[in-house]
Amino acid sequence: MRPILDCTGYELWRDDVVHAEGVYLITAGGDRIVDFESGVWCAGLGHAHPRLQTVMHAQLDRALHLGYRVETALAAEAATAVLGTLPFPDGKCVFLASGSEAVELATQIGRRTSRRTFLLGLTGAYLSAYGTTGTMSSNEWILFDWAACAECPKNADCDPGCPRLAEIPFERIGTFVFEPGNSGGFVKLPPRGPVRALAARVADAGGVLVVDEVTTGLGRTGAWYGFQHYDLRPDLVALGKGLGNGYPVSAVAMRRSIGADLEASGFHYAQSHQNDPLGSAVAMEVLAVLRDEKLVERSARVGKVFLRELITIASRHAAVREVRGRGLMLAMELHPDSRPALHDVHRALLERGFLVGCKPAANLLRFYPPLVIGEDEIRGLVAALDLVLGGAA
Ligand SMILES: Cc1ncc(COP(=O)(O)O)c(C=O)c1O
Repeated sequence: MRPILDCTGYELWRDDVVHAEGVYLITAGGDRIVDFESGVWCAGLGHAHPRLQTVMHAQLDRALHLGYRVETALAAEAATAVLGTLPFPDGKCVFLASGSEAVELATQIGRRTSRRTFLLGLTGAYLSAYGTTGTMSSNEWILFDWAACAECPKNADCDPGCPRLAEIPFERIGTFVFEPGNSGGFVKLPPRGPVRALAARVADAGGVLVVDEVTTGLGRTGAWYGFQHYDLRPDLVALGKGLGNGYPVSAVAMRRSIGADLEASGFHYAQSHQNDPLGSAVAMEVLAVLRDEKLVERSARVGKVFLRELITIASRHAAVREVRGRGLMLAMELHPDSRPALHDVHRALLERGFLVGCKPAANLLRFYPPLVIGEDEIRGLVAALDLVLGGAA
């Protein structure tokens, strides 16, 4: 019996990978597989980025973990670097270990800051594996279903008198937790108008805007942050995944006034891996590489090429229902009873050396490659997809 608890709910695709480098996974048998999932959407710089490897090795020789009562200058430098990418460079930042933890803490801070416990979210958003952001129970959350807004001709700039907005008890809501379109890996991109209208109404009622950038942050959508596509000014931002490029470090960043109020009011939150030196060193180097290699701009540019290529082959195959994406966060949805079936398309791509995401619940293939992905690898995948959709086994 396998000693690893089988609990993810997801099928295991390969169990023979021994090495990962750049956009490639390399198996014990020497197969090279292009990783269009970046792990679980974490390895934005590609696997084993040489600059990150050097920084990690050097930091391992100095200090890995010291605890929250022993602070290094590194944590403060890394916090300054994170805040420098956000609209509140003079704010406050804390480093944690996972994305779930960062989103949950940001939400709890939103509640405490607004002094109201009720939360607003969008349907379809996945925010966390646990806590109130994991359950999103109707006792605590109002979930706005924006599907109808997607069809609305005014969805770029909502009418303030829209009856859908009038249904929401903004006076009870303290925090709007917005996730800019990963939507649990389904790549469902909420339209601009309703998101902006909800954020404005929550702010007018004295509430707080938390943005979950765990997946959409740090270049994934072709901008530094997903909220930039909506021209929003968040109060708190949760980061994870790409911040560590695979090493588990996450962060909550907030406006200066929120941080100052928390400190003045005796807010306490402590866990073992808070502001660890290794995580701080990793986060700082990730940000430096993103900037030096212009990977955010690259994500926007290469993402457009990728989307165009997918749209071109979609027009040739009746099996394809829709293609959508933003930056290097893309999806291709097949028709429910497509021929070939989703599972067969996925398997055939893997056999040809392309690991892509797969969501049977929506008959969807997903593409979240490292931001360093080359146009050649994209064209290779698209050519394979074209063959497979055309019936090649
Ligand atoms: C948008 C979003 N928020 C939060 C999380 C949770 O992050 P983690 O799995 O690192 O706890 C995820 C994970 O997929 C995510 O996609």
